[in-house]
Amino acid sequence: MTTKKTKARAAENKQPAGLFTVWGPRLIIGLLFAAVCAGLDAIKHRWYVFEPAKLHELAQAAIASSPNDTAGMIQHIVTNLTLEYPSNKIKLNVDSSEWVFNNAGGAMGAMYIIHASITEYLIIFGTPLGTEGHSGLHTADDYFHILVGEQWAFLPGALEMERYTPGMVHFLPRGTAKQYKMHKGCFALEYARGWIPLMLPFGFADTFTSTLDVITLYHTARITAREMIRNIFIAKI
Ligand SMILES: *[C@@H]1O[C@H](CO)[C@@H](O)[C@H](O)[C@H]1NC(C)=O
Ligand SMILES: *[C@@H]1O[C@H](CO)[C@@H](O)[C@H](O)[C@H]1NC(C)=O
Repeated sequence: MTTKKTKARAAENKQPAGLFTVWGPRLIIGLLFAAVCAGLDAIKHRWYVFEPAKLHELAQAAIASSPNDTAGMIQHIVTNLTLEYPSNKIKLNVDSSEWVFNNAGGAMGAMYIIHASITEYLIIFGTPLGTEGHSGLHTADDYFHILVGEQWAFLPGALEMERYTPGMVHFLPRGTAKQYKMHKGCFALEYARGWIPLMLPFGFADTFTSTLDVITLYHTARITAREMIRNIFIAKI
């Protein structure tokens, strides 16, 4: 009792801490954190394995080798990547039956995650029905290789749409957002490079505000985490 009271009194008598005592260390920690982030951001390209030009060639080769056969294109892509990249350099998910819904920015489709790590992901995304929405404002560069169908897009101020057809790549640099539409149906090989975990909130937000599809949420989180961890284990950041 007495000690408690004494302590309480001591606390009351304490001088208010100086502004610097409280905020100084926080400011220093904040600046250090910002410096570490800037440093990592400057060297993140060292962890990239895929090359946009090669993926573009691969998408075109897949279309040419399997005309009118989306499953054949996907198989061509996965087989090629498996032969091209040793499994101690990058981990790929070769189970092309592992599809999940993806609701983001108001658009809906399904995706098959071929690769996911901290700085890169490679997925097949699309829908045979068509969809439309906001691309998201991302911390990664995005390369959207059309395999089947068309993707349309526009930026505010544009009075005509951009139109992407099979064999074309729609490049969306980080920090840019567009409205896009996969008119009728469309499937694409999507490659993103940058800070992938920062993109995930956009990928999950529609689940909490709209679909409440917790089964999809569970599988998406499970597959993404599994692939990221498999890559971390071989030091593929
Ligand atoms: C993978 O595809 C690219 C682009 O079409 C091609 O240049 C390369 O030879 C292919 N690699 C294998 C192992 O098939
Ligand atoms: C692909 O489908 C289109 C439209 O159905 C058809 O005109 C074309 O001949 C088909 N191409 C091949 C190679 O099967």
